[in-house]
Amino acid sequence: MTTSRVAPHAFWLAGRKATGEDTFDVTSSWDGRLVATVSVPTEAQVEEAVAAAHAVRDEFAATPAHVRAAALDHVAKRLAERTEEIAQLISAENGKPIKWARGEVGRALSVFRFAAEEARRFNGGEAQRLDTDAGGVGRLALTRRFPKGVVLGIAPFNFPLNLCAHKIAPAIAVGAPMILKPAPATPLSALILGELLAETELPAGSWSVLPVPNDRMPALVQDERLPVISFTGSDKVGYAIMDSVPRKHCTLELGGNAAAVVLSDFSSEQELDWAATRIATFSNYQGGQSCISVQRVIADASVYDRLVPKIVAAVEAQKTGDPSDAATDVGPLISEDAAKRVESWVDEAVQAGALLLTGGKRDGASYAPTVLADLPAGTTLACEEVFGPVLTVAKVDGVDEAFAAVNDSKYGLQVGVFTHDVQTAFRAHQTLEVGGVIIGDVPSYRADQMPYGGAKQSGVGREGVAYAMEDYTYERVMVLTGLPL
Ligand code: SIN
Repeated sequence: MTTSRVAPHAFWLAGRKATGEDTFDVTSSWDGRLVATVSVPTEAQVEEAVAAAHAVRDEFAATPAHVRAAALDHVAKRLAERTEEIAQLISAENGKPIKWARGEVGRALSVFRFAAEEARRFNGGEAQRLDTDAGGVGRLALTRRFPKGVVLGIAPFNFPLNLCAHKIAPAIAVGAPMILKPAPATPLSALILGELLAETELPAGSWSVLPVPNDRMPALVQDERLPVISFTGSDKVGYAIMDSVPRKHCTLELGGNAAAVVLSDFSSEQELDWAATRIATFSNYQGGQSCISVQRVIADASVYDRLVPKIVAAVEAQKTGDPSDAATDVGPLISEDAAKRVESWVDEAVQAGALLLTGGKRDGASYAPTVLADLPAGTTLACEEVFGPVLTVAKVDGVDEAFAAVNDSKYGLQVGVFTHDVQTAFRAHQTLEVGGVIIGDVPSYRADQMPYGGAKQSGVGREGVAYAMEDYTYERVMVLTGLPL
């Protein structure tokens, strides 16, 4: 941490701008330039934000739906108006190619739009008759959902705007205050979201955006005034959080080593071209730094020999380089350390006998789009989430072997199955141990209203606006007694 003479970027404390005593620098992983200097909240300021959120929780829960929906609509509108500026910021702080950054702003806009719609629909209440037994005659149960309390949202660097949107928009939709903590490498998108929220009529204290350093997070995680934690990030950190607060409600969106399965019925030249292009694009988008980027291709033996050269050609056609260039497909990773880790995993795999079909080279924070075949079991790349532009190809015989290979992983976030067969699609849905099965496309497809989350070690709970709203609330039943018979 440094003390900078440049006026630091303020954070948002209980809905208003504030600065602390220390600062940290946000730099571009593409060219190392300083993007911004950001102020760090002091411990007293964090305490002030938490106390304000706790104090406003009843008032916020009781805020009329139209007020919360109007605030959400406002943010959606402003994201549309400021798309280009915000996309440039995402690209600068994250190294994400500008075309993907523009897409991310569009997705965040939909998240706020969905949240506004859901806020208007949510919690109408559900009536249940109780006269099904003699003791319930003259009674009626009415169930509504109420916020569990203040939510601590901890967001990752890979979608610095949209994954913040997925935390805070559902919280506003249900009237739950939020303390949002962005990733240290990418706080600027979250802070700009604060700028848009500050233009709304939401009660002071109902939201804060605090770039708290990671080493100060255990105290916040432990704070009993924050009963809900919504975390997106690595499995190591996520489970450490959950284990440290076993009585809190934790939603964990963790890693994956998503598979794309190509089956024998997906076999024309045109179909294989489509599969190869989609696989190449979505193993490399954001430098592979997405929990659902394609890491494993599992191809039926009948299509493998024709598919693999197409994948290699499509991967080699990915344009690498400056993320601010509209033509760039693949930019740098988030840091040089991240690229070095990916390099070491690929090197380990090659030394263990994997065949490098393309890529395998690092230049600073950039890692070349890479394809490997014959990956030995037990290598780090075979067991863990690479979170880089690397994919492996494996040959299988038939659907059973393909689905067993998908399930042979500690993770289970999403899978893509290239098939036209509706029976196989239903079998995939039934058999694959994942949170989402995408038929006819890559596992990386996500629409922001869908339930999104993992099975096995990919996490606990679901995001997707309406699902997060359920997650942040609990059912409370009221029984009316003495009703006319
Ligand atoms: C993630 O990396 O978990 C988010 C993927 C997405 O929202 O597309």
